[in-house]
Amino acid sequence: MKGKSEVRAMLRPGVYKQIAPVLFGSKMAAQAGKKAKELGVGRLLLVCDEGIRQTGMDSKMEHILKESGLIVTTWYGVQTDCPDGTVEEAVRIIGENHIDGVLGLGGGSVLDTAKVIAAAAANGLEILGEVLEYLSGAKSYAHHPLPLILMPTTTGTGSESTFVAVVTSSALDAKVGLPCAADCAIVDPELTMSVPPFVTAFTGLDALSHANEALAEKKNTPHSDLLAFEVVRLIKTYLPAAVADGSDREAREHLAFASNLAGIAFNESGVHIGHACAHALGHLYHVPHGVCCANLTPAVIELQARAYPEKMKRLGLIMGAKISTDEPGEIGKKAADAVRAFAKELGIPSLNEQGFTEAQILEALPIVLNDPLGYAYDGQITEEEIRFILKRAYRGSYGGN
Ligand SMILES: [Fe+2]
Repeated sequence: MKGKSEVRAMLRPGVYKQIAPVLFGSKMAAQAGKKAKELGVGRLLLVCDEGIRQTGMDSKMEHILKESGLIVTTWYGVQTDCPDGTVEEAVRIIGENHIDGVLGLGGGSVLDTAKVIAAAAANGLEILGEVLEYLSGAKSYAHHPLPLILMPTTTGTGSESTFVAVVTSSALDAKVGLPCAADCAIVDPELTMSVPPFVTAFTGLDALSHANEALAEKKNTPHSDLLAFEVVRLIKTYLPAAVADGSDREAREHLAFASNLAGIAFNESGVHIGHACAHALGHLYHVPHGVCCANLTPAVIELQARAYPEKMKRLGLIMGAKISTDEPGEIGKKAADAVRAFAKELGIPSLNEQGFTEAQILEALPIVLNDPLGYAYDGQITEEEIRFILKRAYRGSYGGN
């Protein structure tokens, strides 16, 4: 057991990271043109999707950018989970129009796609076939990616403050990470006001899963813990309010802050087995990422309580669990129950309610076994543990193993 008392324990050594400046707050979107100019951009590709076009945020952003003297081309070709083939078209448009900078405006898939476009436009589409080499550090980019600004319109991804983009690789037939970080993040809570209740709920639980997994990934530090626990507190406090009333500006603002903090926490520490399972299930069945994470997080908490009982006790107490024991198994179940009840209250359907069978969920097992992300957990991961997580996520209760 690690550090009986957090107050008396020695601090764990680690690296504290902040990869790009974050402009946070209402009306910060208006700074986008100025920031692009500061980065030396003259011709910019605005990356978004059909959902953003329907909100009209794309034309408002074009107006802001053009007022700063930028020449703007808008591309709406983003697809969920960034299939690598989708970036080809964007890279061609960049070449044809002599574009020298990229701005991603949207949810996680848009931000990740914008990252991949910035890296591929500078280094060629070949990098998409060598994603694992770049992620492992075996290869590094010959050219710095194009200047990149990321502006989230949902409160879950944290991608604006992480060094990696999740891409669906056609060569590997799996979701994998390609390294690329923004030069500037603009987190304006006003951009999140129109997100519908269900999306607000599952993206918020994605941010909660980032914080939870950051607490027990191998690179966790006292600094990432500090951010992660604050994320848990903010999401517990404000997510129900934003789901109940999307126009609650105070709740939206705190969730935008929490999502970004969670991104910083897991960029410094990391996510691990929960996200390995979520990526596999998302790839197999196209369940929204946040819905996967919401179903997996209670099981991950149970697992993490074995290696980090004090942290999971603290997380459980923040989530409203009554925990008086120091026994890791009991802490795990009580903290997991609190998060499971929270997700249910927010209307997240269980995997069972979505019509899956346990056998279908267990089909993720061989994919997860081959995903290095799972082994980033700072505790034991065996086939047994992965099966435990998938089964627990499916059953959502403590019957059987
Ligand atoms: Fe996530």
